[in-house]
Amino acid sequence: MELNKLERYWLTAVGMMLGAFVAATIVALLFFGIRLPSPVDRIDPQRLEETVFANPGIRQLAGNRYEAYVVAKSWAFEAGPDLGTPPVLRFPRGAEVTFYVTSKDVMHGFQIEGHTANLELVPGQIAKTTVRFNRSGEYAIICNHYCGAGHSVMYATIRVE
Ligand code: CUA
Repeated sequence: MELNKLERYWLTAVGMMLGAFVAATIVALLFFGIRLPSPVDRIDPQRLEETVFANPGIRQLAGNRYEAYVVAKSWAFEAGPDLGTPPVLRFPRGAEVTFYVTSKDVMHGFQIEGHTANLELVPGQIAKTTVRFNRSGEYAIICNHYCGAGHSVMYATIRVE
């Protein structure tokens, strides 16, 4: 098989690009510790009251670390009666928050504006991500997975003070 000059050029260019992508993935994995969020545990979405989501909301751990339990349903996020509807989650600046989130009914999304948190919420699975809030301000939590008629009004707010 005879390759002309242009074919050889493009094959080389594509090969180098693929090599660069593979190298970037390996560097992200080994040196930046970047991982795909993985499900923490499985639960029965019909019986959330028997799980860690029975009383959703914020729990303070030692120092400036927190846990936040949030339930997504059509079409709202729930974080307990104290935090309102739609909920407002308040944290001090510098807080490191581990979110545990699940869905009660259909697939929803959980994305925090201005941060790298982006979870896919599958009913029956607990999704987890940890975020550090270094800047004061207000950040929306949005459902970024189309989930029906109320999708566009499904949000919550994080207030970092
Ligand atoms: Cu929930 Cu879109």
